[in-house]
Amino acid sequence: MLPNANTPKTDSGSQNGKRPFHSPSPQSNKKQKLMNGSAHSYVQLQEERQQLPIYSARKKLLQQVQRLASAIVIGETGSGKTTQIPQFLYEAQMHRNHLIACTQPRRVAAMTVAERVAAEKGAEVGELVGYCVRFDDMTNENTRIKYMTDGMLLREAILDPILKRYSIVILDEAHERTVHTDVLFGVVKAAQKQRKNRGLMPLKIIVMSATMDVDHFSQYFGDAPVLYIQGRQFPVEVLYATEPQSDYLFAALVTVFQVHKDAPPNEDILVFLTGQEEIESAVKSIKDIAQDLSQDYPPLVVCPMYAALPAYHQLRVFQPTPKGSRKVIVSTNIAETSVTIHGIKHVIDTGMVKAKSYNAGSGLDLLRVQRVSQAQAWQRTGRAGREAPGSCYRLYTEPEFGKMNINAVPEIQRCNLASVVLQLLALGISDVLSFDFMDKPSKDSLEAALQQLEWLGAVAVADCSAQGKLKLTAVGKQMAAFPLDPKLAKILLVAREHNCLDEMLTIVALLSVESILHTPQNKRDEAVAARKKFVSPDGDHLTMLNIYRAYKSFNGSKQWCFENYVNGRNLKLAAEVRKQLHEISCRLQLPSNSCGRDTTPIRKCLTAGLFMNSAELQKEGKYATLITRKAVAIHPSSSLFMCKPACVVYTELVQTTKCYMRDVCVVDPDWLTEAAPKCFKKKKMST
Ligand code: CDP
Ligand code: MG
Repeated sequence: MLPNANTPKTDSGSQNGKRPFHSPSPQSNKKQKLMNGSAHSYVQLQEERQQLPIYSARKKLLQQVQRLASAIVIGETGSGKTTQIPQFLYEAQMHRNHLIACTQPRRVAAMTVAERVAAEKGAEVGELVGYCVRFDDMTNENTRIKYMTDGMLLREAILDPILKRYSIVILDEAHERTVHTDVLFGVVKAAQKQRKNRGLMPLKIIVMSATMDVDHFSQYFGDAPVLYIQGRQFPVEVLYATEPQSDYLFAALVTVFQVHKDAPPNEDILVFLTGQEEIESAVKSIKDIAQDLSQDYPPLVVCPMYAALPAYHQLRVFQPTPKGSRKVIVSTNIAETSVTIHGIKHVIDTGMVKAKSYNAGSGLDLLRVQRVSQAQAWQRTGRAGREAPGSCYRLYTEPEFGKMNINAVPEIQRCNLASVVLQLLALGISDVLSFDFMDKPSKDSLEAALQQLEWLGAVAVADCSAQGKLKLTAVGKQMAAFPLDPKLAKILLVAREHNCLDEMLTIVALLSVESILHTPQNKRDEAVAARKKFVSPDGDHLTMLNIYRAYKSFNGSKQWCFENYVNGRNLKLAAEVRKQLHEISCRLQLPSNSCGRDTTPIRKCLTAGLFMNSAELQKEGKYATLITRKAVAIHPSSSLFMCKPACVVYTELVQTTKCYMRDVCVVDPDWLTEAAPKCFKKKKMST
């Protein structure tokens, strides 16, 4: 695929520590860990800490934080920012006996890093060092260093806008510009100012990034100084495809085997693909092809890597490659900056990423495979040069690279903002249109979000474009109490009218975890046959509910999960999520009740939340969304794939070869008008 690649260009990556990863298991036992070969002694860990590039910048950093309100830190992935900076601050007593928060866009990162830092401190996770991610809080009153998802800190700000429990907030992975981080920028900046005005203990803010474009951050935080961490750098040879590739997946496979043929053993390969399904299928193809290779080739160890991968599978990625063999890691963009993997010499960059894109005009929120930015491409390249010189195979041409965006568009400018606007209103920020965003989302998308919230009954404004002082309604306040998308929160709130909170809590919990189905590539038919007994003619939500009920009646038996091709781990997680949602609903005094076997109340509740995600069957046998008239299809994995119900609601749209509706439920069109008269009135008039 790339035999005649152009003359290479050179970039540099950074050096990195020499440590395998730790399991994020919250119950991990320290003694046990110290016995297992991958764990290192306390002394060894301290030595490793001192070898990290960040160590030499320690004094300067502490001085800056002492002196100024805010600071920006840039350092290559692996230089020690995330694990060390909170410890430096703690060791220098800069936390003033309050909490140091370090926010992460990904929950896996928050959990694994907390585990690592706890080990470096010789403590258990959940004590001095803890983490807090949605549905999982591992902190106690002794916690001082708290790794948390950006979304969790934002939720805390709703109850406590000046963040009084914290003395320092570190906004990590700022270059990722997730929606939550972007909103947090504004929230912590406001908290800092408030505390200053009120003569309270100052709130120090540190922004950490792996990329160089930080002028923006610096300006936003009152020209905060930028501290550059020098990493050890190794050159990386960059090779471009000579022609545009029509099938990046195929190109990636060919390149893996080309490198495998030419490179000495123990030079590991990291391939960037876009999502779980694609990665699993690529892993299978690589394994299949490798089986047919002659004995002359080194053995291949192939590992997938994505956020939803069970922790013990992720661990394999970090284990050293057996001598004489080669590891191939097939990953999403999670390996770009948030986790560090040792031994990588060759990076294969498809130049693709799965990201949200939202069109305020059409109101469609889509998860779509798209081109990465140049900044992301350079991050990927850097992964090949951490420990020694390496090479990066770009499966796109140099002119194609030139056409890529320099930096990724911040997520806030390309996603549905209903959830963000609900949170801002809950924070008491009534004029969301003039909130101090670092990069403002378009007025259209803010207004579209307000419109959706009005349809959901969270705000009451006759005309959403009026820039009046907006306030949440009673329903809106209750919606904001749930750590959920407003649509899902609404589903729980209407359950009280339909007497089915028990069922809706289960369904919403199931929608909040990764797939509860387990469908191995080579046993697709067996899996579908085994799960046939659960299938509901009313659609996927009810099918999932049936699976959950059966799972409970078998007391979560592993054997049962195995025989029925369901993912026991995700079901267990859903049960935990359900418990927490139930606690919130008790606090809100929602009556706990069940509708038994009647599915109508359940489907009415789903309609009340998902009416914006509705589609109807057209005369020619295809579906069109009701509000935006976009052509869509039922996802092949849906239990309704072979049926053609007249009207459906769905959880989300996924764009692959077509625009697919995922998790589909059969509904009565009249329920839609009942659920959101304002939204459907207009449509009725126009038909
Ligand atoms: O944040 P940054 O990318 O600058 O680096 P870091 O995450 O603090 O990682 C510093 C070093 O700690 C890495 O080189 C890893 O070798 C090691 N580390 C680890 O072994 N296990 C983790 N869970 C996190 C980091
Ligand atoms: Mg980091």
